[in-house]
Amino acid sequence: MKQTLLEELHLSLTADAPFISPKFFYDDIGSHLFDVITLLEEYYPTRTEQWIMDAHRAAIAQAVGDCDVLLDLGAGNCAKASQLFNSIQPKQYRALDISKEYLEAAVADLQKKYPQIDMCAEAIDLSLPLAFPDIAERRKIFFFPGSSIGNYDPKKADQFFANLAQECHGNGGLLIGVDLVKDRETLHLAYNDPLGVTASFNLNILLNVNRITGSNFNLQDWEHVAFFNESQSRIEMHLRARSDVEVHLPNDGSKGHAIQFKAGDLIHTENSYKYTQEGFTEKLRQAGFDNIQTWTDPKKHFLVCFANAK
Ligand SMILES: C[S@@+](CC[C@H](N)C(=O)[O-])C[C@H]1O[C@@H](n2cnc3c(N)ncnc32)[C@H](O)[C@@H]1O
Repeated sequence: MKQTLLEELHLSLTADAPFISPKFFYDDIGSHLFDVITLLEEYYPTRTEQWIMDAHRAAIAQAVGDCDVLLDLGAGNCAKASQLFNSIQPKQYRALDISKEYLEAAVADLQKKYPQIDMCAEAIDLSLPLAFPDIAERRKIFFFPGSSIGNYDPKKADQFFANLAQECHGNGGLLIGVDLVKDRETLHLAYNDPLGVTASFNLNILLNVNRITGSNFNLQDWEHVAFFNESQSRIEMHLRARSDVEVHLPNDGSKGHAIQFKAGDLIHTENSYKYTQEGFTEKLRQAGFDNIQTWTDPKKHFLVCFANAK
């Protein structure tokens, strides 16, 4: 049976270690807040990835080759894909994201600038298996920038890559950006910016949950927590209860059933895994890609890869 978002949230919030999937960050406010995060001095991934793409534009275009369809996974504001249009020249651009209104507005704007490219916006949940039967024969390039893959547990990332490799049908590939392991201070600051934008982004997830479930999370009861878990090689983001909190989820039919949190209790909202170059390219190989080409920045903070599907 297909699980509704409401059921999913009820299960995750009542789990022994409560969590909320990071996909719930991205309502309209969350998508805008993420855009502000990318402008912050402390948030190095976006500008570093863009630097790599700019510095190696011709080599990346050569590695990618012909592109019938560019599938932008978690496209957000579509800015990164649009920077590739002139060099890669896709015949079709398909932008996929969970944040429907935000995505549709971004694609509508882009279509005006590039009328020659056939474009569409698709509101989908990437955590479900992907299939593109209507373009099975066409050469597909999957584009997955922004280290969004870091949100997947490593085993889920393997399954996701295997799904993409299979969908290429031996003809196409994956252009992906991933954040690399680096010093603890740089990582810590990127998720604990002094302006508090990441904290707002994290807290906003509760407003989205309130909208979906009818719950009564009060933002003042919660604080942002983010730290590097070295043994798991991941940044973890949580929301910590400032005091004892009782939350009701009226829309799930539990009729008055309340979830109790004690002061100090955590709700886990995001993991952002950091990889080594070798570890990451090996994952792509294991999943069914080869001829992997890589580009990085002088500090080796971020990695861009193009991998051909076997
Ligand atoms: C880290 S942002 C990256 C945005 C953009 N690609 C970039 O590199 O700047 C992650 C994007 O993935 C989308 N997203 C997150 N979880 C998703 C899911 N389960 N299904 C579809 N889109 C998702 C978000 O709405 C957001 O636009």
